[in-house]
Amino acid sequence: MTAAAKKKQPADLRSARWFAPDDLRAFGHRSRAMQMGYAPEDWVGKPVIAILNTWSEAQPCHMHFKSRVDDVKRGILQAGGFPMELPALSLSESFLKPTTMLYRNLLAMDAEELLRGHPVDGVVLMGGCDKTTPALLLGAISMDIPAIYLPAGPMLRGNWKGKVLGSGSDAWKYWDERRAGKISDDDWVDVEAGIARSYGTCMTMGTAATMMAMAETLGMSLPGASSIPAADANHIRMASESGRRIVDMVWEDLTPAKILSRDAFLNAITVAMAVGCSTNAIIHLIAMGRRAGQDIGLDDFERASRKVPVIANIRPSGDKYLMEDFFYAGGLPGLLNEIHDHLHLDAMTVTGRTLGENVKGAEIYNTDVIRPVSNPIYKEGALAVLKGNLAPDGCVIKPSACAPKFLKHTGPALVFDDYPSMKAAIDRDDLDVTEATVLILRNAGPQGGPGMPEWGMLPIPKKLVQQGVRDMVRLSDSRMSGTSYGACILHVSPESYIGGPLALVRTGDMISLDVDKRTINMNVSDDELAKRRAAWKKPEPRYERGYGWMFTRHIKQANEGCDFDFLETGFGAPVAEPSIY
Ligand code: FES
Repeated sequence: MTAAAKKKQPADLRSARWFAPDDLRAFGHRSRAMQMGYAPEDWVGKPVIAILNTWSEAQPCHMHFKSRVDDVKRGILQAGGFPMELPALSLSESFLKPTTMLYRNLLAMDAEELLRGHPVDGVVLMGGCDKTTPALLLGAISMDIPAIYLPAGPMLRGNWKGKVLGSGSDAWKYWDERRAGKISDDDWVDVEAGIARSYGTCMTMGTAATMMAMAETLGMSLPGASSIPAADANHIRMASESGRRIVDMVWEDLTPAKILSRDAFLNAITVAMAVGCSTNAIIHLIAMGRRAGQDIGLDDFERASRKVPVIANIRPSGDKYLMEDFFYAGGLPGLLNEIHDHLHLDAMTVTGRTLGENVKGAEIYNTDVIRPVSNPIYKEGALAVLKGNLAPDGCVIKPSACAPKFLKHTGPALVFDDYPSMKAAIDRDDLDVTEATVLILRNAGPQGGPGMPEWGMLPIPKKLVQQGVRDMVRLSDSRMSGTSYGACILHVSPESYIGGPLALVRTGDMISLDVDKRTINMNVSDDELAKRRAAWKKPEPRYERGYGWMFTRHIKQANEGCDFDFLETGFGAPVAEPSIY
């Protein structure tokens, strides 16, 4: 590092407050560091780098973090830093119930307070499985010390009988094939064994791959980091490079606030469209934008969706390829270079250079995987924001992943008040349903779910599956997995549990959606809706104590990013550094 780039001196380090003074408290900090076998040579004059590691034995997507953290430490030591690994809440999408979204903000708080309370000058954030990326970034944004995000990377392609299997997407697909009697129970067990065959995150363009790409586009990861498969040796080298780079970022005082401009978020939204992102990206990017003090909302997504085509031919928006193919085709840098006309190229990044400088000259090696803008897989963006009397504050659909005939549709509602009643009825032979029916699930939003579970891809009724139906319009205030697909309308706001209009729909009401016009309405008169509203009763509280009690009181709606109100940047004065007495 040049002397000019160095903005901090050892005495300016945050950690010096713990280690440098000649007083009794600092004696305690030094003597306890020595208890762990460290000598003053380990820390004097060196930035202390926290590594927030979301490894756990319930987290298959982060299995490699147990050893990958050593590669990060190697890089930190090489660059003259002092690594300090701090375990953080893991948020395993696979195992944590009722839904990881209930706990995203808990990890965000965990991250922020771990950083605030410890003697650290910078941080490497190790995440990847869906909510871990936004949660770690939310915490780092609020703490605003130099931070670099290390994405877990996608797992290798799945394999079954010579067929490529994609996370989530092929689970839903073959589940329907099994329900239709098209594959055997033995086949199903083999799919189970072949669909996730290495460590790493889901390898479709689900929420994990989307959010890792968002972190990189925002400028919070090294160029190309988010596309590297977890099991590739490049991932190990990227981990140690992240460790080396964060030490310099501390000396340069390159904080998230200097990176996360409104332009950085607009870039992320643009790229979300181009990759055929998970619908969950909307909620997380809005939350992160608001934490960073940027005014990001659904309108920004709507504007981008009208002008940015989907060019990443990755399932579920694409029909063939997975993240491993995306990496070989040039990965995110290749895609960013291809859409550079749509990007704010002067946005700053963790490299200390701009996004434009980072991706200049990045090549594409397979133009079927990363398509030219002139030959997209879908001409408009991946997401559309709909509004109307059913969703005054908006809802979303992923047109690139649904049957085109449902983009303009009117059909009768079949309403379920909760998931158990839907599950009990959906496979009944006497269910009054046709392909034109609009399946509705309510009380599945942020408060009602609780935690807005990924229930939005409601199962197709068995009698229709057996007739060959594989898509129909489904509508809810829940989310859906980024690996899901179909004509699913999600995130209806305000949610039904708090009395949003979704609470007033009845079976048989006609529902109309028009994606081109961006509308969603129930064809019910205002007078009738007023009568129904007067008769509506608020459901029973979900929690009477504990974290859930706090969650339901402070969670914001989907269109506002589902942050806790008290965590938002504008809620109160910034939190001061901890006193050390
Ligand atoms: Fe972890 Fe999909 S379950 S990324």
